[in-house]
Amino acid sequence: MSKVKVFRFAFADFYSQEPENLTEYYTNTMGYRITEEVDGKTYLSNGLDHHNIVITSSNQKGIHRYGYQLDGKLSLDEVQQRLHVQGIQSTLKTDAKPGISNFLEVQDPAGNILELFTDMDQPAPGFGTTGIIPQKLGHVAFYAANYVKTLQFYQKALGFTFTDKIGENFANFLTCNIDHHVINVVASNETRLHHIAFQLKDASHQYASSDLLAKHGRPILWGPSRHTAGHNIATYHHDPDCNVVELFTDMDLLIPELGFYEPRPWHEELPLKPKVWESLSAWGTEFEVDLAKI
Ligand SMILES: [Fe+2]
Repeated sequence: MSKVKVFRFAFADFYSQEPENLTEYYTNTMGYRITEEVDGKTYLSNGLDHHNIVITSSNQKGIHRYGYQLDGKLSLDEVQQRLHVQGIQSTLKTDAKPGISNFLEVQDPAGNILELFTDMDQPAPGFGTTGIIPQKLGHVAFYAANYVKTLQFYQKALGFTFTDKIGENFANFLTCNIDHHVINVVASNETRLHHIAFQLKDASHQYASSDLLAKHGRPILWGPSRHTAGHNIATYHHDPDCNVVELFTDMDLLIPELGFYEPRPWHEELPLKPKVWESLSAWGTEFEVDLAKI
């Protein structure tokens, strides 16, 4: 019997008090393309999808909702039934927004609103020609109230796999595909975004992105450094709303059949299996900003 299975973090929808500034950042600095502007929302694409970033005009800021794509082996009605059996309520929304004609709206135990869908329109606006132009939206890290229940929810209800931890009760990494992490759940007594992360193609892209951020007046807050958990080489900066944005390359890839990561020369042990890490930087570098407390 098929299980509910998310396989991709497809979009993040941000509230913004100054949506023009955030839209300018995502178009000119990040190289995303606008696909649609309607009802106080701007939809932006990184090449193919109708939206990978949504900017919602609001008197709030931070995350409005997250979008996750299901593998399509179950209809949304069947997904709704499977979730209901687990005591999880969801609402089927039809023709409620552009780009995704049907989705299930569900709340995770941390209080985040998720949109679960099987199909998104693919207008294929192409990639930008200026700006950073990431390869894809990679992962989200969020502070979570009820983090234990939140971890159970993503694993039992949505089919995620636990990979690494940093500390026993700090960062908890989950994936829904072979990327080391798609979600990083940071234990807290409140729920809010820690950072959102975009994948770059390689080290040269990382250098170029830092130069471009400097030209756009966005200093690097932390990095570049290679993380322990995931081994991604990462930099962090603020978008105009002070959301923290990570740009990374070289993240570990999980081999689910074997239960360890594809071996790399920089791995501390071979084979490298999911484990608990003590620190954030594999290079031992320290920065003025404490990434654990942003
Ligand atoms: Fe990250």
